[in-house]
Amino acid sequence: ESLAKDGELKGKRVFIRADLNVPRGPTGRISDDHRIRESLPAIKMALEGGAAVMVCSHLGRPKEGELTENDSLKGVADYLGKLLGKEVKFATNWVDGVDVEPGEVVVLENCRGNVGEKKNDEELSKKMAALCDIYVNDAFGTSHRAQATTEGMAKYAKVACAGPLLAKEIDALTAAVGGAEHPLVAVVGGSKVSTKLTILIHLAPLVDTLIVGGGIANTFLLAQGKKIGKSLAEPELVDECKKVMEVMKTKEGKLPFPLPVDVVVARHIGYDAGFRICDVDDIQDDEMILDVGPKTSMMLRGVMDGAKTIIWNGPLGVFEMDNFKEGTHDLARTIAKATKAGAFSIVGGGDTIAAAKAFDVADKVSYISTGGGAFLEFLEGKTLPAVAALEARFEK
Ligand code: 3PG
Repeated sequence: ESLAKDGELKGKRVFIRADLNVPRGPTGRISDDHRIRESLPAIKMALEGGAAVMVCSHLGRPKEGELTENDSLKGVADYLGKLLGKEVKFATNWVDGVDVEPGEVVVLENCRGNVGEKKNDEELSKKMAALCDIYVNDAFGTSHRAQATTEGMAKYAKVACAGPLLAKEIDALTAAVGGAEHPLVAVVGGSKVSTKLTILIHLAPLVDTLIVGGGIANTFLLAQGKKIGKSLAEPELVDECKKVMEVMKTKEGKLPFPLPVDVVVARHIGYDAGFRICDVDDIQDDEMILDVGPKTSMMLRGVMDGAKTIIWNGPLGVFEMDNFKEGTHDLARTIAKATKAGAFSIVGGGDTIAAAKAFDVADKVSYISTGGGAFLEFLEGKTLPAVAALEARFEK
């Protein structure tokens, strides 16, 4: 942004590492363009500043050196052209040189086609860095990967900086976690404690209220001594769950760790599955928990009332099925309402964004992150290598 304002982009070759790794349907059609739209400010800024603009991204996880048609970013390049309302060139085999003039945009073919990208090869990084005067990392979604276009180039480019999206994401996440206004409520849902345990351990001391949902809550119910029938759970992690519960017991608020008090249970998962709502003390051996019940939803509404910051990652039940969606739906509505009442709410992770969209609250929360894995690693308190590489240059 400051380079653009100072007129320092004029005539320069600017290489933007974006994250255009968008979901696509079976025919290859882009099913969600959030990441492309969020990448526009950096591209427009560079264009308006008079730069020759190279846009680089990965798409999927192809085998290096063996890109197939399905791995190509050509469709994304065309889509970007439509959004920009201007011709967007496309370059394959670009590592040895890119033909682009000031005022033009070229999308570079999937960088994961280049041998050495994933292992952050030094020679490849140097070669790519030599393609530009200014390297811009705007790929928050890939900032947890130390790869040649995310970490390597940041070390070797003449000038390296963060793009507006990367800066916006780090600011929003820092505001929600590190410098949050309290009461701070975090919702961590999803199917397995094992995948989110580090997040729970990192967040527990920081938040006022920790809401767990989905299969994650089931293991906590086990830790509480409840019988959960054949619900998905990880009994081997009960001791770890107890440690998180101990941390939450030290909090002063009314309900710092509101575990479900009632649940929706069924004998199998399916759109046609018959279900019933019962208290957590009344789950039968052949039943499984697939959603939270209405009393729990009401309790969560109370907990969110007055929250100043809300972090949401992970659904409370199998929200894709009508019979088990109500808990997550109610949570989405509650977060939207709290946001309207002045809370700063941040939503991240593929499933959670899908839930926010399904329940029509995506534009009623304060911030939707473009990160999946990167969002989770930030919540775990991990250093994001691509961000660290930029910071190291500033420190020098
Ligand atoms: C994502 O979709 O989370 C990012 O684009 C990173 O993709 P990766 O997990 O394949 O590195």
